[in-house]
Amino acid sequence: MKKASLVVMISGNGSNLQAIIDAIQAESLPAEIKAVISNTREAYGVERAKRAGIPTFIKVKRKDQDREQYDAELAEIVKMYRPDFVILAGWMRILSMEFIGAFPNRIINLHPALPGTFPGVNAIERAWQAFQNKEISHTGIMVHLVPDEGVDLGPVLTQKIIEIKPQDTLEDLEKRVHQCEHELLVETIHKTILQSEESHA
Ligand code: GAR
Repeated sequence: MKKASLVVMISGNGSNLQAIIDAIQAESLPAEIKAVISNTREAYGVERAKRAGIPTFIKVKRKDQDREQYDAELAEIVKMYRPDFVILAGWMRILSMEFIGAFPNRIINLHPALPGTFPGVNAIERAWQAFQNKEISHTGIMVHLVPDEGVDLGPVLTQKIIEIKPQDTLEDLEKRVHQCEHELLVETIHKTILQSEESHA
């Protein structure tokens, strides 16, 4: 079976990137990470990629650049690796159509909340706070396609409800969310690879 080529884009810790690396190394995910792209120099995920022998590329937005220019350059870099899928695993910059248009139906985003809830940054913290205010009874995570500039919005591939317990600290909830994300992201990438193989058979 041909391995799917992935480019993984990150901005921070890279624990989800690590989950993908681990699944590939365990041969439970038929994929290869061609490159890891970070928009920040400090992202720990870059270290994780280097340790796994994966090419890394750091692309910081210059002050004199507008969003579209940056995204067009970013798309050129990602295209070099000819990915079957581009995985946004904690990529914290909103992408414009200059980038998205280059990879139709091939960009997959992970978000630590259910569809339509808490888009953008600090989603887990906002969900935890909403639970304290009795506005929600649970939270969740989702993996979705990125068709346009909508923030954490797009056709949902998978989602999972995550319980919030009354005694949970924010750290407890973050830990539970991240553990579930690691599983769901790998599962979803796997499922998407298999579906795309079937549709090309
Ligand atoms: C994850 O919780 C991911 O869902 C979130 O960033 C974190 C990255 O963690 N993404 C978003 O909030 C997107 N809006 P990681 O760097 O340890 O994988």
